[in-house]
Amino acid sequence: MAIDRITIRKPDDLHIHLRQGELLQDYAQDVGKWCKRVVPMPNTVPPVITANQMLDYKKVIEEASPGLVVVPVFKIDASLTFDDIKALKKSGAFMGKYYPQGATTNSKGGNTDWKSCFSVFEAMESEGLILSMHGEEPDDPVLLREERYLSRLDELLMNFPKLKVILEHVSTKAGIDKVLSLPSNFAGTITAHHLHYTLDDVIGGSLNSHLFCKPIIKSAEDRQAIRAAAFSGNPKFFYGSDSAPHQKRDKELKGAAGIYSALTAIPTVIEEFESANKLDCLENFLSTYGANFYNLELNQEKITFEKKTWTCPQEIHGVVPMRAGESISWNRAQ
Ligand code: NCD
Ligand code: ZN
Repeated sequence: MAIDRITIRKPDDLHIHLRQGELLQDYAQDVGKWCKRVVPMPNTVPPVITANQMLDYKKVIEEASPGLVVVPVFKIDASLTFDDIKALKKSGAFMGKYYPQGATTNSKGGNTDWKSCFSVFEAMESEGLILSMHGEEPDDPVLLREERYLSRLDELLMNFPKLKVILEHVSTKAGIDKVLSLPSNFAGTITAHHLHYTLDDVIGGSLNSHLFCKPIIKSAEDRQAIRAAAFSGNPKFFYGSDSAPHQKRDKELKGAAGIYSALTAIPTVIEEFESANKLDCLENFLSTYGANFYNLELNQEKITFEKKTWTCPQEIHGVVPMRAGESISWNRAQ
C-alpha cells in the first residue's frame, strides 16, 4: 500500500545559510517550519569567529524563529589560538568551518595556507570539536574541484586521527567513495539539490541561475552515488540543505552561488526516498545520524508529513526558491 503520511522526529538541518539583517527572520522562520535544529554557517559579514559573535548569532536566530534551536559553529581562522578554541568550546561550539580562500560566497577572507591552520585543527581535535570542510580546490577546473580536494582528508587522518571531519555538501561519486573509505570519524552532508538534479538541469537547456551553487551540481553518475549513499542507511551520510538565499537580482545579474531550498528541500528529500522505496531510512537520514555524529540529543519534537500536493511560490522574500512554480507532492500536515 502506498504511504501517504509519515511521522518522524523533527529534522536537523546541519548546514544552512541564514544571513544577517532584515531577511534573517524570514529565512529562519522558513526553515523552522521543517526543522528543529540548524547549524547556521558562519560566512556572514563579518564572519562568526569569536565566542561572542557565535553566541550573538545564535541568539538573533533563535529570537527570530521561536522554537528553532541553533547548534553553534565558528569560522576557522589561522589566527585562532589554543585558548580561543577552548573558549569557543566552553561557549557551546560544536564545530569550526574551514573555507579555502575564494571557494564560495564570502570566502575572500578564507584560508590560503592550509598548513597554517594545523595548530587550530590540533586544538579542535583535543577539544572534541568537529572540522567542517567546504571541500573544493578553488583554483582547479570547476568540475574537478571537489575530487582534487579529497587527498586533504587523508592528510587530516594522518595528522589528526581522532578529529571528526565533515565533507559538506558532497557533490561527486569520488567524494562519496572517499568518505566511505575513511574511518567513522569522517562523514558527509548531502543536500536536496544534489540528490534531485544534475548539471543538465542547470545548464542543459536555458541557463537556470537559480540552481547555480557551489559545489556545482554534477553528473547523473555522481547523483547516483549520492542517492545510493543517502538511501544506504550508512550513518556517515546525513542531511544538510546548504540552503543559501541570494536576492533574485543577485542571482540573475551577478551570478551569485547558492540555492534557496528552505521551502522545498525536505519535501524533495521525501520524494527522493519515496521513489527509491526507502522511506524507512528517512528519519535516520534527516533526524538521527547527524545528531549522533554531533553528539546531540535526538530531537523529541515530531513532525508529520502528508502526501498532499502544493505549489512552490515563484518568489519569496525577493528570492526565487528551489522548485519555484513546481508541484510538490509532500507537505507538512496541518
Ligand atoms: C553558499 C552561500 O551562498 O553562502 N553558497 C553556495 O553556493 N552553496 C556558500 C557555500 O556553502 O558554499
Ligand atoms: Zn553552504
